[in-house]
Amino acid sequence: EPLNSDYDLTKPITSTSGLRQGLTSYGDAHFSLFLRKVFIKALGYSEDALSRPIVGIINTFSGFNPCHANVPQLIEAAKRGVQLNGGLAVEFPTISVHESFSHPTSMFLRNLMSMDTEEMIRAQPLDACIMIGGCDKTVPAQLMGGISANKPILPLITGPMLPGSNRGQRIGACTDCRNNWAAFRAGEIDLEEISAINEELAPTIGTCGVMGTASTMACVTAALGMMPLRGASAPAVSSARLRIAEETGANAVALAKVGRKPQDVLTKESFLNAITVLQAIGGSTNAVVHLLAIANRHPALTGVITLQTIEEVGRKTPLLVDLKPSGDNYMDDFHNAGGMLRLLHELRPLLHLSAMTITGQTLGEVLDASQSKRPSFAQKIIRPLSDPLFPSSSLVVLHGNLAPDGAVTKASASKYRSLLSHTGPAVVFENSADLAQRIDDPNLAVTKDSVLVLKGIGPVGNPGMPEAGMIPIPKKLAGAGVKDMLRLSDGRMSGTAGGTIILHISPEAVLPESPFGIVETGDLITCEIETRRLHLDVPDQVIQARIQARKQKVTGEVEQRQRRRGYRGLYERSVNQAQDGADFDFLTAKGV
Ligand code: FES
Ligand code: MG
Repeated sequence: EPLNSDYDLTKPITSTSGLRQGLTSYGDAHFSLFLRKVFIKALGYSEDALSRPIVGIINTFSGFNPCHANVPQLIEAAKRGVQLNGGLAVEFPTISVHESFSHPTSMFLRNLMSMDTEEMIRAQPLDACIMIGGCDKTVPAQLMGGISANKPILPLITGPMLPGSNRGQRIGACTDCRNNWAAFRAGEIDLEEISAINEELAPTIGTCGVMGTASTMACVTAALGMMPLRGASAPAVSSARLRIAEETGANAVALAKVGRKPQDVLTKESFLNAITVLQAIGGSTNAVVHLLAIANRHPALTGVITLQTIEEVGRKTPLLVDLKPSGDNYMDDFHNAGGMLRLLHELRPLLHLSAMTITGQTLGEVLDASQSKRPSFAQKIIRPLSDPLFPSSSLVVLHGNLAPDGAVTKASASKYRSLLSHTGPAVVFENSADLAQRIDDPNLAVTKDSVLVLKGIGPVGNPGMPEAGMIPIPKKLAGAGVKDMLRLSDGRMSGTAGGTIILHISPEAVLPESPFGIVETGDLITCEIETRRLHLDVPDQVIQARIQARKQKVTGEVEQRQRRRGYRGLYERSVNQAQDGADFDFLTAKGV
């Protein structure tokens, strides 16, 4: 067709590719397209360029986001891939969310980022969209938004940072941030050393270099079939990372041409594969919340992928990857050991090989095609199925009268195995401020057998479900050598943290009907990982009476949330509980 056929008023505009998408703004579709071309030509594009498949590239660079510092280079490489393959690449911004610069929490902003992503993908005339993300909340936000927008999407990960070094030992953000800080608190290392360590924990740009949330979500995204397998682990500063970006550009043009949408690609089997990988890598507990939120954006998967699915897959899946915090190594080691390609070959008997990927090949076909490239050299990072690090269920889902809607723990990161079946008296902190005030009080009545309980850090409570669930060991016990205790909260913890820590207790404490909200200091709590049981050893009538009494007390707070202004008001009124992904209820696929 001649390039100016767009202006033939005798023919309706029927194509929905490129600039021809969604031409309803002025009633007159020809005029709408004419105006679009006026404005995009201001950027210097020719009719030839504008006749190509348009690939949007989401730019999440921010001066406050070191995990995304390589985004400009990735955009350049992705553009090269798009344009060498006959497409037109157009970048545009969305918000960027970094863990440390997102007050009150990055999780508070995840849903906002997902809305930004969804609406900008929907609003703009693009045939496919490369979504560049990396830091913990960004990849989930982009998948949630991209699945809801349901145009062809291609996640592109910024990649992990390299490890640093302290006195001859490798260190890396952020498992070693926590270990070393705990050692400093316990007086084991001095001010000079902790200052030196501070300089080395994040020695390059990129995402945290252990199996924290960012790395977990990168592996899970690859397992979902949404990106090249090497894209999960190539370091942020590597040239491999740039080649993956170029490849993503090429894939985007192909995907734009066939119009393959995420809701077509993703099925129950894709999520079962993702959860298998999550369990095998000893992935972050946060990924449980994110995966539920992501699945609940898909109309065919809401209510299909649940906490129960995480638990069922876990029982069949051993821990194979020896990375911090469950093991000893860094993402860099995982990449050099063969990364996701090697892991998926090891996990093959447990995978659903018929699951589709964005390339149009099934996962089985992807693995078959890579058979000759299958890494088989000796290494210690990715274990074979026959010799796992932990037999099954690195992530465990618990239920009981204390968590009727569930709770999650990373059993593989427990430091004292005896705590995996434990009964002890609760020491209750009503919220983070209360914790900060009393945890190191030398007079706090606490022993190594106490159960530390932190309330008020759930989705609504703080708000945004902060990563405060790794309650510090009280200083007097830490000083006496105690390294782990049973700790309970309705919040999250960093994917880089470890210990016997029960998280995401649901319903969260601030909700008037929450049994977790009525726990008192001295109550006995039993946690049995083997039977998946989290129990408050208090008679039912007492629990019910306490809940009734508390309901009266919190009516003021509930009313205040109804009146709260701004995004925080929207958040507190709309966020659902951890077992549903802590998404806004109105964003899930339940709505029409
Ligand atoms: Fe961005 Fe850890 S702070 S990945
Ligand atoms: Mg994190």
